[in-house]
Amino acid sequence: MRVLVTGGAGFIGSHVVDQLLERGHEVAVLDNLETGSRENVPDGVPLHEVDVQDEAAVAAVFEGFLPDAVCHQAAQMSVSRSVREPGYDAQVNIVGLLNVLSHAVRTGVRRFVFASSGGVLYGEASLPAAETTPAAPISPYGISKWAGEQYLQFFVREHGLQAVALRYSNVYGPRQNPHGEAGVVAIFCTRMLQGQTCTIHGDGRYVRDYVYVGDVARANVAALEQSGDIGFLPLNVGTGLGTDVNALAAIVRQHCQRIWQQRGLPDEIASPQHGPARPGDLRSNLVSAARAGQVLGWQPQVALADGLRQTADWFAEAVAMRSGD
Ligand SMILES: NC(=O)c1ccc[n+]([C@@H]2O[C@H](COP(=O)([O-])OP(=O)(O)OC[C@H]3O[C@@H](n4cnc5c(N)ncnc54)[C@H](O)[C@@H]3O)[C@@H](O)[C@H]2O)c1
Repeated sequence: MRVLVTGGAGFIGSHVVDQLLERGHEVAVLDNLETGSRENVPDGVPLHEVDVQDEAAVAAVFEGFLPDAVCHQAAQMSVSRSVREPGYDAQVNIVGLLNVLSHAVRTGVRRFVFASSGGVLYGEASLPAAETTPAAPISPYGISKWAGEQYLQFFVREHGLQAVALRYSNVYGPRQNPHGEAGVVAIFCTRMLQGQTCTIHGDGRYVRDYVYVGDVARANVAALEQSGDIGFLPLNVGTGLGTDVNALAAIVRQHCQRIWQQRGLPDEIASPQHGPARPGDLRSNLVSAARAGQVLGWQPQVALADGLRQTADWFAEAVAMRSGD
């Protein structure tokens, strides 16, 4: 199958690219490198440095590659930027999506997989939320993901597209950008390995459903390869298991301490400090992926402890160990 991965130079998209290649698919990437990186795209995979908002350039990529399927990961994915610049968020996440969808159906694409978000759609969820949970997005980012799903349904009805919206929980793993606000694992790994103190917002009892990026990529590949007549299918991708930020930080710290010892660095990694709570942070957000199990045969395979070990090991290779090294 020929698959166009938008956002394929980013964190999740690049893992999707890797797994598609392993499965023998032909892949091209469309990404403007806003937060993604050329280094994340394997040699031999064409990288079209194009903004999803640029209609003519998006059209040319579709006409040149003629994909069978699209995996749409490209997005403005900062909640705080969406609050500051709701127009920019809508341009990338809604108008950009519409560009990609329009050229997909025009050039005969049948299968479309869209990166959605359980975190922003379901809001507060102390038990794992199912896909039937009414969406109640509060940020412009959440609203644009919700609108994206509505547009997918329109393209399914109007153009016979087969569309899967994968509603991820909190994704973590190698290649996540530590400079954003959302990648708490990437931020903790980078800061701790560099000997900097981490700050936990408020009391740290904020429970999230952390899912490993390799598992998320596998869900994307399964959704792309699933050949049934599905119409529009929203599927949660998460573990259903909650971990609070204090516990997460403690596990990351153990791994970073182990890495420091292996490298002969003598000191103790500092315990995180607590700072002010962030207004609006949800206390708990968990998703149930039971439906993805039934429809795709997908289940998360990487336990949090293993995924955090792999992630800390990856960051140890990627960052200088201590500031100034
Ligand atoms: N990381 C998570 O926990 C999480 C959770 C829920 C949903 N998502 C969604 O998953 C998708 C991938 O997120 P990620 O975590 O890999 O983030 P990321 O920032 O690493 O990836 C996004 C990619 O899109 C590209 N991009 C951004 N704006 C673009 C534009 N205008 N035109 C073309 N390309 C553009 C970036 O350069 C980047 O490579 C996004 O749609 C995001 O909203 C992520």
